[in-house]
This record gives sequence, structure tokens and C-alpha cells, in this order.
Amino acid sequence: MDSTAEDPFDRFAAWMAEATKSEPNDPNAVCLATSTPEGRPSARMVLLKGVDPRGFVFYTNLESRKGGELLANPFAALCFHWKSLQRSVRVEGPVERVSDAEADAYYASRARGSRIGAWASRQSRPLEGRWALERAVAEHTLKFGIGEIPRPEFWSGFRVLPQRIEFWRDMPFRLHDRQVFHRGSEGEGWRVEALYP
Ligand SMILES: Cc1cc2nc3c(=O)[nH]c(=O)nc-3n(C[C@H](O)[C@H](O)[C@H](O)COP(=O)(O)O)c2cc1C
Repeated sequence: MDSTAEDPFDRFAAWMAEATKSEPNDPNAVCLATSTPEGRPSARMVLLKGVDPRGFVFYTNLESRKGGELLANPFAALCFHWKSLQRSVRVEGPVERVSDAEADAYYASRARGSRIGAWASRQSRPLEGRWALERAVAEHTLKFGIGEIPRPEFWSGFRVLPQRIEFWRDMPFRLHDRQVFHRGSEGEGWRVEALYP
């Protein structure tokens, strides 16, 4: 394993920039895996809404299945797959809640309909019928009128703090290229190693 001057966040930014040009939609879509404290995993897609040297941010309903699992067991894995580039990135590490100020700022940037949708959706809980969701949307539309829509307390973001970031590139005959960055202890930077495909 080598110490490296390369920052995996720089490489991630470069790959995301290429994916943004080449993917037909949602280059920031990523599969998020969580698990119960008993170790039962679940996975679903979310949209990456921020990345900086601290980590990878997405937003969701804290009372959803993923929200409950992350609050009870604050570790996650992310898996990006860009079909147009035949590349994948995997991220693993503990998670933390983003600050209220950060969540407020992102919430405020969303379309009004999406802000109302966040209030109306009891994400992951049983839905009696589409009418129930439509009624909740209508009720909240009426309630907020043309005024400000505050961020619901049950809606916020999580940041995955990566301990491991893997970059995978398709190569002929399935002899793919895999580079894994491991975060060293405080002040040590990243170590990189290659893995058999
Ligand atoms: C491309 C794509 C992006 C999505 N982005 C989000 C997202 O950013 N946040 C979110 O809560 N759900 C998002 N969803 C919906 C989730 O995949 C999932 O259905 C929902 O969050 C409930 O998951 P849970 O019951 O495991 O908590 C997205 C779905 C797709 C297909």
C-alpha cells in the first residue's frame, strides 16, 4: 500500500464532472446501503447533493426506513455506477447529520412543490391510496398559502464520512482496474492500494 499525494475527492470530482456530461440523467444518483443494528442490510437510490473533503451528503425523511436505520446504526455505504463511462465509485464510513443551517439552506433551494412534498410524504410508511398523498399535498398547499415553507423537523441530510473510497474502471476481459483509498489516522492523509478485479 502506498501513501499518496492524490486526494480521492479530486478524482471523484473529475469523474462526476465527466458523468455529468455523459449520463442521460441524474449523474448524482447513488445507491445507499444502510443496516439495522442487527446487521440486516437494505439499499435504495438517493441523489448526492453535496460533496466536500468532509464527505458525501444526501437528504431524506428522518422517519423513513433509511432514516431510522441510520439513526440507530450510523454507518453507510454508497455505490455510484455511471453506465455511460463504465465506471463505479464505492464509499464507506460512518454518517453524521448535517447541521440545521446546512439542511435549511438546501431545503430553501428546492422547488416549492418539492418542499410541500416533503411535508406531505410520510416516507416509507403504508399509504392507504394515492388519494391520501394527494390530500396531504392539498392540505399543506392550503396551509402554507403563498408564505414561507419551513423545513420539517423530520427532514434533513446525512453526510457519509468516508474511510474507504474505491474507484473502479471497466477493462477488457473483465480485468477491471480497482484503486482503493483508505483514510489514515489524523493527519496521515490517504493510502492507496490496487485490488484484483
Ligand atoms: C434516482 C433516484 C433518486 C432518489 N433520490 C432520493 C433522495 O435523494 N432522497 C430520498 O429520500 N429518496 C430518494 N429516492 C427514493 C428512494 O430510492 C426510496 O424510495 C425512498 O427514499 C424510501 O426509501 P426507504 O424506505 O428505504 O427509506 C430516489 C429514487 C431514485 C430512483
